[in-house]
Amino acid sequence: MKALVLAGGSGTRLRPITHTQAKQLVPVANKPVLFYGLEAIASAGIEDVGIVVGDTHAEIESAVGDGSAFGLNVTYLRQEAPLGLAHAVLIAREYLGDDDFVMYLGDNFIVGGIDGLVERFRAERPSAQIMLTKVLDPGQFGVAELDADGRVVGLEEKPREPKSDLALVGVYLFTPLVHEAVSALKPSWRGELEITDAIQWLIDAGHQVQPTQISGYWKDTGNVTDMLEVNRLVLESLEPRVEGDVHDSELIGRVIVEEGASVRGSRVVGPVVIGQGSVIEDSYIGPFTSIARDCRVSRSEIEYSILLSRSSIDGVRRIEASLIGHDVEVTPALNAPKAHRLVLGDHSKVQISS
Ligand code: DAU
Repeated sequence: MKALVLAGGSGTRLRPITHTQAKQLVPVANKPVLFYGLEAIASAGIEDVGIVVGDTHAEIESAVGDGSAFGLNVTYLRQEAPLGLAHAVLIAREYLGDDDFVMYLGDNFIVGGIDGLVERFRAERPSAQIMLTKVLDPGQFGVAELDADGRVVGLEEKPREPKSDLALVGVYLFTPLVHEAVSALKPSWRGELEITDAIQWLIDAGHQVQPTQISGYWKDTGNVTDMLEVNRLVLESLEPRVEGDVHDSELIGRVIVEEGASVRGSRVVGPVVIGQGSVIEDSYIGPFTSIARDCRVSRSEIEYSILLSRSSIDGVRRIEASLIGHDVEVTPALNAPKAHRLVLGDHSKVQISS
C-alpha cells in the first residue's frame, strides 16, 4: 500500500502568509502541518509516499527531504497547476501502479491518526473508503448524502444547498479502480477534476464506497481561525520541557522553552511553546501561543496566537487570536497624534481597536 499526499495548490484563504509559504508548511506548535500527516502515514505502516507538489515544490522538498526522517520513502510528483484533487491522482497514475493507496490532503489535521482507518480498509477492502464528519458549514466542503441504511448515495463538492451536514474529511482510501473513475472525469464548473466526482462514478458503477463517520477532531487548516484552533489542540497535549535559559520569570502550566531560547523578566502561562533562539523579555505570553525560532518579544503581551520565525514584537499590548508571518515587525506608533501607521501586504487582514 502507498500514500499520495497532496501538497500543491495555491492556498488563497491563508493569504498573505501563503504568498511566501506553502500552506502545508505553516507550523502548528512549531511543526509544519504536513509533518503531522506524514507521521500518521508512517504510523499506519505505509512506507512509500508520493507527494504532489506545485509552485512551492522547492520549499516542500527542502522541508521533507527524502522522507527518511519520518521512516518514509518519498517521491515528488510535479503537478503543473492545481487542477483538482482527482487531477493529482491522474498525474500519480504511474507512481501508484496497481497498489491500493491512501490519499491524504496535506493541509488536513486528524487527531488520533489514521491507523484504525487503514486497518479497516485492509481487512474489508471496499473500492473506496471515505471519512465523514458533521460540520456547521457543509457548503465549504465535499458533502455526502447517505440513505436510511447508511450507504453513500451521493457526493457533491461545495454545494449551494447541502443535502446533509456530513463533510468529507481529507483522507481517502482507494483500490486501483479509482484510476478508471478518474480517467472518465470532465472538469467541474470550477474547472477542476473533482475527487468527489470520481467517487460518485464508483457509486454509480455499483462499486462499494464505504463511509466511516468520525466524531473526533479534524480540521482543514485552510484558514486562520482553524489554524489557531489546531494549534491550541496540539499545544494542550505537549509535555512541558525547559531547555533554554529562564531568568526572573514565572512559567505556569505546560510550557516548552526550546534550546537556545531565553526568557527574562516575563510571565508565561501555558500551554505555550517558545522556539530555538527566541528571546522573551519583560513580557506576558498567554495560553495557546506558539512562538517559532529566532523571534523577539519584548515589553509586550500576546496570547492565543502563532508567531512565525524571525518576527519581533516590541512594546505592544495586547495581541490575541493572531497569525503573524515570518520576518514581521510589530511596534507601537510613538509620539502623538494617536494614529495607526500601517505597511500591509496585499490581501492582509487587520483588526484595530479604535
Ligand atoms: O479538507 C477537506 C476538503 O478538502 C473536502 O471536504 C473537499 O471535498 C475537498 O475538495 C477539499 O476541499 P478544499 O477546498 O479544502 O481543497 P484545497 O483546494 O484546499 O486542496 C486540498 C489540498 O490539496 C491542499 O493541501 C492543496 C492540495 N492540492 C489541491 C488541488 C486543487 C493539490 O495538491 N493539487 C490540486 O490540484
